[in-house]
Amino acid sequence: MTIRTGRAALIAAAAIASLSVGTSLYAHGNVTPQAVDTSDLPDMAGGNDNWVQHNPYRGNARALEIGQSAYGQNCARCHGLDAISGGIAPDLRYLELGDAGDEWFVERFRHGSSHDGKVYMPPFGDVLGQKAGWAIRTWVESKHTDE
Ligand code: HEC
Repeated sequence: MTIRTGRAALIAAAAIASLSVGTSLYAHGNVTPQAVDTSDLPDMAGGNDNWVQHNPYRGNARALEIGQSAYGQNCARCHGLDAISGGIAPDLRYLELGDAGDEWFVERFRHGSSHDGKVYMPPFGDVLGQKAGWAIRTWVESKHTDE
């Protein structure tokens, strides 16, 4: 079964809107991003501000570790422990593998998601940076399932 953007996102949006934790929760600082130490990871060939579209760390064991911890600190409260969603945000285990999944992942990671003036997912690109983003993607992809 594949629950992805469409219905799951609508349910998530409705759940979040009804609890009104969108903008207000972010504004109150409950979702302050936690810095990620990425000094062990190779820098981006084109510079860290030049975002690439495909994961340069796929298969990198250190990126997997850093990504797991960064996910736990920054994403799990909405997307669920161990990437298993409790229903308020899409289940990231169903993101496509490989390049197609990378492109969608980095779009959301960088820009988040807002509709009608409410923040459903805050943007992480500027605060955590590209290296942390791809480390998280490396870990998320390791949790992929088709079931
Ligand atoms: C405040 C809650 C919240 C936090 C924190 C959060 N997200 Fe999200 N995320 C959402 C919601 C809600 C959506 C669905 C948005 C939509 O469809 O408009 C989403 C969507 C996504 C998507 C697209 C999924 C799909 O199937 O379309 C990705 C990828 C994603 N988030 C990654 C992350 C990562 C990585 C982090 C941590 C760095 C993170 N999110 C932190 C709430 C959150």
